[in-house]
Amino acid sequence: MKLENDLLLRAARGEHTERIPVWVMRQAGRVLAEYRATRAQAGSFKNLLMNPELAAEVTIQPVDILGVDAAILFSDILVIPEAMGLPYRMDEGKGPSFEQTIQTEKDVENLSTDHVLDNLKYVFDAIAHTKRGLNNRVPLIGFAGAPWTIFCYMVEGRGSKTFSLSRAMLSKNPELAHRLLQKITDATIAYLNEQISQGCNLVQLFDSWAGILNKDTYSMFALPYLEEICKSVNTVPLTVFAKGAFFSLEEMGKLPCRTLGIDWHTSPEFARKMAGSDKTLQGNLDPAVLYGSEDFIIYETKHMLDQFGPQKYIANLGHGVYPDIDHEKLKLFIQTVQAYQFNRS
Ligand code: CP3
Repeated sequence: MKLENDLLLRAARGEHTERIPVWVMRQAGRVLAEYRATRAQAGSFKNLLMNPELAAEVTIQPVDILGVDAAILFSDILVIPEAMGLPYRMDEGKGPSFEQTIQTEKDVENLSTDHVLDNLKYVFDAIAHTKRGLNNRVPLIGFAGAPWTIFCYMVEGRGSKTFSLSRAMLSKNPELAHRLLQKITDATIAYLNEQISQGCNLVQLFDSWAGILNKDTYSMFALPYLEEICKSVNTVPLTVFAKGAFFSLEEMGKLPCRTLGIDWHTSPEFARKMAGSDKTLQGNLDPAVLYGSEDFIIYETKHMLDQFGPQKYIANLGHGVYPDIDHEKLKLFIQTVQAYQFNRS
């Protein structure tokens, strides 16, 4: 079925777009009162994402309320460790935590990739519900965590500023680290391909903790797995968003993916120069700009658009929207992008 608005897909494929498509990381979230109400109805974050009807409802809310050019599936990157045998908790104000973590050879052996798709049936049901609710208005983005970021949560068991336990494993037992990264990669490929079979039109890999590695360790422990996923998930456009990995942008420009997500630390000019002319870029307004005045938001947004240019570009923030942002300010960002006319002279 043809999409009414396929701007995002055309931009991702590098085709001409008459205006710039825009969506926002974490658009389905606490920034919307409607999300908070549905979440209260579900009882908890995990109940919400495991309930296909309610997950579909919050996935579609930003399309109706904010007018974004794409929906992103409401789920979490941590469903993959859970489906492999490591359950997690999400506590209000504390973030995610795992009771068991991965430290030894035996721990890695015990992780199973055999039932990942069965265990994640609720995600695929949520995609089916969402597709029905969207009724081909806009594309649906699927996603997963990148292997390195999932590895960080599995080894550390929680968020961390330094993820030093995870980096310690790279130094102490690189072979074990590679075995774990390969297992996560295998599960992720199956998961993303099933999301696509169920109707996702584009998929994004979130490498949220890329920035704690360096060029060499990112080349060794992250890029080969990203490359394998890009090669094996190739029926829709794929976006790699490696937060903080400006040092590897040139290498990422060679990945067989269509789009690179750019964080707010990286200037558009630098990103274009390093990533090469073929890639579509996505990003990268500092989410904190949305705390500013209306004039400031409009000025900063237009400045960003001018720097990225009108083609091979998808507007977004440089990371997820903060939950205490006024949603009217978020809407102003979206509408500023959608109304922008480039000076053609
Ligand atoms: O709108 C969307 O972007 C789709 C939904 C989405 C969520 N998480 C919902 C969510 C997506 C794409 C994610 C990805 C995700 N989850 C990432 C990668 C992106 C990034 O932010 O770097 C990471 C690292 C996670 C793990 C995770 N989930 C953390 C660290 C937290 C706690 C932080 C917080 O804001 O409280 C979550 C919880 C989470 N995931 C929320 C949402 C809407 C907030 C939970 C709530 O409603 O209380």
